[in-house]
Amino acid sequence: MAAAAAAVGVVALLLLLPLAASAYGDGLGRAAVGVNWGTMTSHPILPCEVVRMLAANGVARVKMFDADPWTAAPLAHTGIQVMLAVPNDQLARLAGDPRRAYRWAEQNVSAYLEAGVDVRYVAVGNEPFLKSYNGSLINVTFPALKNMQRALDKLGLGDHVKAVVPLNADVYNSPENKPVPSAGSFRKDINALMVDIVNFLNMNNAPFVVNIYPFLSLYQNPNFPLNFSFFDGGSKPVYDKGMVYTNVFDANFDTLVWSLRKAGVPDMKIIVGEVGWPTDGDKHANVRYAQKFYDGFLKKMVRNIGTPLRPGWMEVYLFALIDENQKSVLPGRFERHWGLLTYDGKPKFSMDLSGDGLDNLVGVEVEYLPAQWCVFNKDAKDKYKDLPAAVNYACSNADCTPLGYGSSCNNLSHDGNISYAFNIYFQTMDQDSQRQWRTGKC
Ligand SMILES: *[C@@H]1O[C@H](CO)[C@@H](O)[C@H](O)[C@H]1NC(C)=O
Ligand SMILES: *[C@@H]1O[C@H](CO)[C@@H](O)[C@H](O)[C@H]1NC(C)=O
Ligand SMILES: *[C@@H]1O[C@H](CO)[C@@H](O)[C@H](O)[C@H]1NC(C)=O
Ligand SMILES: *[C@@H]1O[C@H](CO)[C@@H](O)[C@H](O)[C@H]1NC(C)=O
Ligand SMILES: *[C@@H]1O[C@H](CO)[C@@H](O)[C@H](O)[C@H]1NC(C)=O
Ligand SMILES: *[C@@H]1O[C@H](CO)[C@@H](O)[C@H](O)[C@H]1NC(C)=O
Repeated sequence: MAAAAAAVGVVALLLLLPLAASAYGDGLGRAAVGVNWGTMTSHPILPCEVVRMLAANGVARVKMFDADPWTAAPLAHTGIQVMLAVPNDQLARLAGDPRRAYRWAEQNVSAYLEAGVDVRYVAVGNEPFLKSYNGSLINVTFPALKNMQRALDKLGLGDHVKAVVPLNADVYNSPENKPVPSAGSFRKDINALMVDIVNFLNMNNAPFVVNIYPFLSLYQNPNFPLNFSFFDGGSKPVYDKGMVYTNVFDANFDTLVWSLRKAGVPDMKIIVGEVGWPTDGDKHANVRYAQKFYDGFLKKMVRNIGTPLRPGWMEVYLFALIDENQKSVLPGRFERHWGLLTYDGKPKFSMDLSGDGLDNLVGVEVEYLPAQWCVFNKDAKDKYKDLPAAVNYACSNADCTPLGYGSSCNNLSHDGNISYAFNIYFQTMDQDSQRQWRTGKC
C-alpha cells in the first residue's frame, strides 16, 4: 500500500509539476479547488514537501492562517495562489494604527510578492465574529480590514491583493420558524456592522469569504437529516421561491446570497474559505462519510454546478490539507481530524482533487521512529497509584481524541485506554524514554 502510493507520488510529481501553474491559474474552466494549510501540529511536515505535494495534486490555491516565512517562502515561483492571514490576536494592533497595517503589508505582502509568492488575499482575522469569542473582536475587525486594504492600495497592490475577512456561516441565519434561504439575513446583533463590512469589501472588488460546514449542521442538531448533509439526494428537498434545495451546502450558501441582497450588494463575489468533513472524534466523523461528502462535493465542483442562486464556477478551499493534532478541542474532538491527509502525510482515502478523473490524491513520505510501542504493564508495582493523573497528563500533552464517544478507538478496554494514552504520549514525545511514567513499559 505505502509502496504503491510512493510510486504514484513520484510519477505524478514528474508529470504534473510543469502543468500546475498554467492549467489552473486563470480561474476559468473547472472549479478552483484550493486547500487550507494549518500548522498546529506536533510534527509538522517540511513546508517544501507540502508544497511539492500540492503541485503533485494539481492544487493551485492555498489558504494559510498566518504569514510565516517558514511556510510562505517555499510557495515562491510555484504558480500557486496564496491567501495569507493576520491572526485574530493581531487585529487590535492593526486596527489601532494604519502605520502598523502598512508595515504588515510591506513585510508580509510586498516582500513575498517580490520573492515570487503569488499573494492574492490577506485574511484579516479568522472567523472573528464567532459567538464563542463573546464579541471581543467586534470593534477591531472592520478598522483592521480598512487599514489593511488602504495599506495595500498605498503600496500599489490593491488591484492584485484583496483584504478579506473569513467568516463563519453563523454570521447569517434564517428564523427558526422560516428555515429557508430567502428568509436569511445577517445576524441581528451584528447586522449594521456586517452591512458596513460587505459594502466596503464590495467597493474594493473584494469577495465575501465564508466557511460552510454541513458536518456542523449535523453535529449541532440531533434531528438534522443525515442525507441533507451530502449531495446524493435521498432527503426531503427544501422548496423556496421557485428554487429546490437538495443539500444543506447549497441552502446555506444561498442564505448568504439572500443576506447580501438585503445588505445592498446582490452581486458580490463569494469564496468558500473552508469546507470539509472530519474523520474522527464524533459518531458522524469517519472516513466513510468524509469520502461520501468529498465525492459529491468535488463532482459538483468539476461540473461547475454552483448553487440554485449562483449557478456555475466557484472558488473553494477544502478544510483541511493535513490533520492538526494540537488544535483546541473546544469546538469538539473532531477538530483534530479534518485533514485529507493524516498528520504523517498519508491520504485517508482516494479522491479526485484535481478534477482530472483520476482518484489520485498524492501524499508525502515522512521518516518514522523505530516501530516500538508502549503497553500498560499490569505487573508493575504500584500500578494504580497516580494512574488517572498520569493518563490525564499524557492526554493533555498528546492527542487522545480517538478514545472518545463515537470515535475510532472508543471501544478499547480500560487497560487498552491506558495503553493508548501512554503510547500516544510516548510517540508524540519522539519515544523519549526519559519521559516514561513508571506504569508504562516499552
Ligand atoms: C508579518 O507576519 C508575521 C507572521 O504572521 C508577524 O509575526 C509579523 O509581525 C508581521 N510583520 C509586521 C511588520 O507586522
Ligand atoms: C466567553 O465567555 C465564556 C463564559 O462567560 C468564557 O468561558 C469564555 O472564556 C469567553 N471566551 C472568550 C474568547 O473571551
Ligand atoms: C465595542 O464598542 C462599543 C461602543 O463603543 C462598546 O460599548 C463595547 O463595550 C465595545 N466592545 C468591546 C469588546 O470592546
Ligand atoms: C438516505 O439516502 C439513501 C440513498 O442515497 C436512501 O437509501 C436512504 O433511505 C436515505 N435515508 C433517509 C433517512 O432518508
Ligand atoms: C462499539 O461497540 C458497540 C457495541 O458492541 C457497537 O455498537 C459500536 O458500533 C462500536 N463502535 C465502534 C466505533 O466501533
Ligand atoms: C476509555 O476512555 C474513553 C474516553 O475517556 C471512555 O469514554 C471509555 O468509557 C473508556 N473505556 C473504559 C472501558 O474504561
